Amino acid sequence: MERDDEMQTTTSDDSRDTEAHETITVRAHAEVVRVATDPGRFSSAASRFLQVPNGLDGAEHARFRALVDRYFTQEALAPFAPRCRSVAKALVAEVSQGRVVEAVWEIGASYAVRAQSAWLGWPGELERPLLDWLTDRFEAIRSGDPVRTAEVAQRFDALMVSLIEPRRESDGSRDITDQLIHDASAGRPLRDGEIVSILRNWTGGDLGSIALAVGVIVHFLATHEGVATHLRQHVTDETLDVYLEEMLRLDDPFHASRRVATCEAHLDDRSIQAGQRVVLDWRSANRDPNVFSPPDGFSPGVNAAGNVVYGIGPHVCPGRPLARLELRELVRALLSTTSRIDLAGESAREQPPLGGFRSVPIQLVAR
Ligand code: HEM
Repeated sequence: MERDDEMQTTTSDDSRDTEAHETITVRAHAEVVRVATDPGRFSSAASRFLQVPNGLDGAEHARFRALVDRYFTQEALAPFAPRCRSVAKALVAEVSQGRVVEAVWEIGASYAVRAQSAWLGWPGELERPLLDWLTDRFEAIRSGDPVRTAEVAQRFDALMVSLIEPRRESDGSRDITDQLIHDASAGRPLRDGEIVSILRNWTGGDLGSIALAVGVIVHFLATHEGVATHLRQHVTDETLDVYLEEMLRLDDPFHASRRVATCEAHLDDRSIQAGQRVVLDWRSANRDPNVFSPPDGFSPGVNAAGNVVYGIGPHVCPGRPLARLELRELVRALLSTTSRIDLAGESAREQPPLGGFRSVPIQLVAR
């Protein structure tokens, strides 16, 4: 999956001519890392639309990135941890009825929507519209039709505006959405397009990433009973994070990101021109046999250093602490109430650019 890939608010880079050259996809780990950590040669302004902070470069990126990072510190997330645990436990209790459950949608998407809504202070009535929107977003991405993806993004913007308007008169302390609307830490109040873009990044892309990550993790736990049994014993948060990220390395749900070359450069043995688009293939980088040996082996400790599931460089995922918290709480809730997680039918793979599974039918076997 790409992040925030169909924005509504245009920026000054509209005139950038990036279509004249063929797009280059980089797959080798070393090359992906090289491009991601060299923002001077490989700009993130790869879209015609405003993307805060992911479409920004240099000092402007750093300014907005600092604003965003403040929402994901340990201190900032601490008050959300108990709520996140309750959301995870309640959802697992709902699906632990001995019936067949579809893990990507019934567990992953529902959990993603409920957890993100709880974090942002959004009302429960938004669950249905957000799930419907996520279904349409996945369908639009699968179709590869830019008109459809733009239409789906527009609907999301309208939803966001309906959340922002009633909060304008608040004192900025009610919830995270409130704080963001009144946030002036970038030197001035955020403009509407910037608020919508940040919220879209925190939900639009991430509901999908979390849902797909849950599918990958649940499938792994169902097919690797030894690992599930090990994680049922007391393991620290750090150990659980490393295990879950190794599962995501093996089957990365976040497919790719885009850059634009700012000057002539060489990648592998290919030379590329200024203005040429470059796709960073995180999935391939995470399976590079030169770094992970063997690439399909499960070695959480050994492989952690090279794992790029949350990216690398100045645009590395700022939401990682939140994603880790959400995934940890859900997995703890699933493992503590079950003695086994069984596959209950054929799983179906997603199609690129979506990663992981489209559906994973399972049955939770109670303790
Ligand atoms: C399993 C879940 C997630 C995965 C696999 C993931 C993966 C990634 C990756 C690979 C990037 C780097 C993109 C690039 O270099 O162009 C990224 C960036 C980003 N992620 Fe995540 N992410 C996840 C969850 C989240 C969550 C929960 C949030 C926020 C609520 C979030 C917010 C962002 C933002 C704002 C960026 C752009 C950062 C920048 O450009 O400076 N992500 N994510």
